[in-house]
Amino acid sequence: METLTNKAHQKLEIKPRQMDFAFGSLKDLKYFDNNIYKSSFIAGLSAAFPPGEGEFLDSVKLYRDQITNPDLKRQVKGFIGQEGHHSHQHKIVNKELDRLGFNTDKVDKLLHKMINSRVKRLSNKFRLAHTVCAEHITALMGEHIINQPDFLKNMEAPMKDLMLWHAVEEVEHKSVAYDVYMECVGDRAYLNKTMKFAILALHFRLTRYMFMMAFSTKYWWNLKDLASTLKWMFGKGGMWRSLRKPYKAFYSDDFHPWRDGGLELIEKWQKDYYHPIQDKSSDEYLRAKVA
Ligand SMILES: [Fe+2]
Ligand SMILES: [Fe+2]
Repeated sequence: METLTNKAHQKLEIKPRQMDFAFGSLKDLKYFDNNIYKSSFIAGLSAAFPPGEGEFLDSVKLYRDQITNPDLKRQVKGFIGQEGHHSHQHKIVNKELDRLGFNTDKVDKLLHKMINSRVKRLSNKFRLAHTVCAEHITALMGEHIINQPDFLKNMEAPMKDLMLWHAVEEVEHKSVAYDVYMECVGDRAYLNKTMKFAILALHFRLTRYMFMMAFSTKYWWNLKDLASTLKWMFGKGGMWRSLRKPYKAFYSDDFHPWRDGGLELIEKWQKDYYHPIQDKSSDEYLRAKVA
């Protein structure tokens, strides 16, 4: 694996890619493998991104003035741009998911309420530490998505392209919140404690959102789909099982988000999954718009 050490990773440019996905062409409520629970899991995740990533941004902004390293300052700017754009794209697709029959608004409101009434009252230290943990988990999910082409097999194209684009940017900025925490707070033991809470909370919330999304449709009673979704998550080669080892690496003394590599995944995305026609800055996109 290609690794980055000695702060070389802070030279990595983190630039939001302005994308335009054809979400209007999403056809089926069961857009993912014709499976209501797999489709609901991704719908729940997508619904949670705008409020969740808003909190990630806010918690990093709390420490922005304390950052002295100019490279890290630049990366924070890129991180804010990328997460902001992710929320923007997920808001658009969430409307399309609702058109198909989900109720993503329910998850959005629930999470917003929780963040405003509870999270914002917590200490700045906890909020940033929680963001570091959540960013580690989302980066691992992103790496899994790019690494395992079969993981999103049979997902309708616009949703798949969105997930892959979001995945690569999560990999790209995976060390930003961690580096801000280490520069401004530096309490590693506290981070480990927070991770134990964060991983449980994340599993609980994502499972809850999946059921909320499934129950917002008339197809929820489908044990076959539920069983195959659980296998897809926890079975051999499943996401959660595959992430167990890299998740545990977080607790080791020499951990850093780039310690075990990841740059090659950015290259893989660029080679295998990047479509210039979706990139607002590309000539192909501009030509297609003019035509
Ligand atoms: Fe994101
Ligand atoms: Fe992120």
